[in-house]
Parts: sequence; C-alpha cells; structure tokens
Amino acid sequence: MTLPPTISDFERAAADALEPGPRAYYFGGAGAELTLRDNPEAWGRIAIRPRVLVDVSACDPRTTVLGREHPHPIFVAPTAFHRLAHGDGEEATARGAAAAQALYCLSSLATSNPVAVAQAAPGGRRWFQLYVFRDRAVSDALLAAAVEHGYEAIVVTVDLPVWGVRERELRSGYAIDAAQLAPHLYPGDLALTDVGTLIDPSLTWADVERFAAGSRLPVLVKGVLTGRDAVLAAEHGAAGVVVSNHGGRQLDTVRSGADALPEVVEAAGDRLDVLVDGGIRRGTDVLKALALGARAVMVGRPVVWGLAVGGEDGVRAVLDLLRAEFEVALALAGVPRAADLDGAAVEPAPWAGGVPFRA
Ligand code: FNR
Ligand code: LAC
Repeated sequence: MTLPPTISDFERAAADALEPGPRAYYFGGAGAELTLRDNPEAWGRIAIRPRVLVDVSACDPRTTVLGREHPHPIFVAPTAFHRLAHGDGEEATARGAAAAQALYCLSSLATSNPVAVAQAAPGGRRWFQLYVFRDRAVSDALLAAAVEHGYEAIVVTVDLPVWGVRERELRSGYAIDAAQLAPHLYPGDLALTDVGTLIDPSLTWADVERFAAGSRLPVLVKGVLTGRDAVLAAEHGAAGVVVSNHGGRQLDTVRSGADALPEVVEAAGDRLDVLVDGGIRRGTDVLKALALGARAVMVGRPVVWGLAVGGEDGVRAVLDLLRAEFEVALALAGVPRAADLDGAAVEPAPWAGGVPFRA
C-alpha cells in the first residue's frame, strides 16, 4: 500500500476513508470552531530567525522530559476510541509510535486496555492519560494497570469536566457501541455527546495533589492555558503541564497552545516541564514550540489520520514525516541540537502584525 507523502495528504485521505460519524468526531471542534482553526494558524504567526554557516552535518533532535531522554520531542497525544478509525485500534497506534521512537500517551477512553496496549509494543515508551470518572473505581483500576505495565507518567486531563458543545457530533448523532468501549466503562450504547457524563465534574486541585502524592509516577496536568494555573500545578505537586485547549474541542474561543505557551513557560520557571499541543502539523511548528520553552509537543489528529489511512504503518509514517521535517528545520535554522533552541530562534511574524509574545 502506498501511503500519502505529506501530513496534509494524510488528512485528505483520512477524511475520505472514515465513515461520517467517526469523521465528525475526529475532525470536529467546539462551537464555531474558531479555536480549532486558530491552533495550526497560530504556529504560522511565529517567524523563525535562522542562523547560517553553522555546521549542521550532525543533527541531534533529542530532548529531556521529566529527567528522561527521548530520541525526539514528538509525542502522541491521547485521543479516544481508536477502533473507530481502524480495526487494529490502540494496539496499532502503540506499534506505529514505537517504530517511530515516539512516546505514546494512551487515553483513558481507549477501545483497548492499558495492559493490551503495553503488550502490543513492549519496546515503546508510554504515558497514561487519566480521566477521573464519576465511578472512581474505574479510574483507580486503569491507573493501577498503568503503573504496573510500564507507563512512565500519568497525564491528568483537566479541561473536560463536561463535554464541549460540538456541533458536528450533534449533527451526526453518532453513538459509540458498548462493545467498542472498555466494557467496564459503560453497559450500553452511548451517544458521543454523552460520553462526558461519565467524567467527574467535581475534580479540583486537591485531587491532583492526592494523585501526585499517592502515585509512584510523575503527574502532568493537561489542559492548562494560563500562568496562574501553571503555578497552581506546581504548588499541588505536578511534575509538568501540557499547554492545551484539547484540540479546540472544549471551550471555543480560548487561545491556541502556541499563544498560551510563553506565559505558561514563564510561570513554570524550573519547577515544571512544559509540553504543548494543538495544531502541530509541521516540523517548523515543533521547532517553534521548543524555542518558546516546551520540552516536547503532542500530536493528536495527524496520528489518527495515519491510523485511519494505514493502521500501524500509517501512524509510523506520520510521525516519521514530522520528525524528518523537524530535523530539516533544525538544520536550516542553524540550530543542529534541539536542546540548544531558545527564544533567539523565533520572533512574532511581521505578516501577523508582529504582536509581541508577551504584553
Ligand atoms: C482528543 N483529545 C483528548 N485528550 C485527552 O486528554 N484524552 C482523550 O481521550 C482525548 N481524546 C481526543 C479525541 C480526539 C478525536 C481528538 C482530536 C482529541 C485531545 C488531544 O489529546 C490533544 O490535546 C489535541 O488533539 C491536540 O490537538 P491536534 O494535534 O489534534 O490539533
Ligand atoms: C474528546 C475526549 C474523549 O475530546 O477527550 O473527544
């Protein structure tokens, strides 16, 4: 099977391959989808300041996150229900990510369980994304399995106390059948727009503190968009934060990850490792995220496009494309070591009005 040559070709091929219900779920955002559209565009409002005549014959894309080295900074964001995209589900995603040496963050709302995913790609690096369900026993069981099966960190997602208003899902009326969900999660068919009712909307920083204190694994808080919340994450024992607006699927008209990142990095200081997601579609986006202080990026939809189009091989191809583009960007920017990227490599783009990163 010939796979598409670029990420945007994967996007088109995935749109063709998916049934209307899953397509609405994977491609859609909240409200008028202003944030969804802005996520990739915001990276385009940042200009790169390249240096020349630097020896770039050896490129080093490695990064360090939570004190551990990774071959490159492109991680797989947690996305739900992979069996809606491809019959091989999360196991294929795990194998594709491992082949691309990319860390895979498994969603709590997977159509597989943390043990099977770990066994599918024993050599892969993995984190576990935790949704705290109203039925806390479900979350506790998932967490225990993750701790036991080699997941290196827990990512607590905090921007989905309730489901966003997603018009494409409302129009499609798609319901996920119970057999696709981890069976312990819900006994019957469930409209996508009702999945949020499984999640505990009463979660607070006190819960994060309990997880951080009680878990053998480091805890990251995913869904932070302000410096103030980054400070609270540090104060409540988190080891890191993921700057994220959930791919524009939750609260429409919030800032993009790219625009929120500098404020969060500044507030985090050296107390937290900061990651960012939302609209990462090119290697230059990855370079800009690291230059602005992120230690790694997470990629959501493009990985699902890879899965929908080519299963395990598609996932690997998408991640390899991004990594190859990132290495080209490092060479052409004259910063061969990713670890050397800093604010000197970027500036507000003149074509976007040159608005400073921080007021
Ligand atoms: C998500 N996201 C998400 N986040 C999370 O913490 N747990 C989850 O189960 C899901 N599920 C999910 C499903 C789908 C279809 C999408 C598109 C996204 C959010 C995800 O982790 C990430 O924040 C965004 O996808 C990043 O934006 P891009 O890369 O999709 O633009
Ligand atoms: C979503 C959830 C499951 O965004 O995180 O669809």
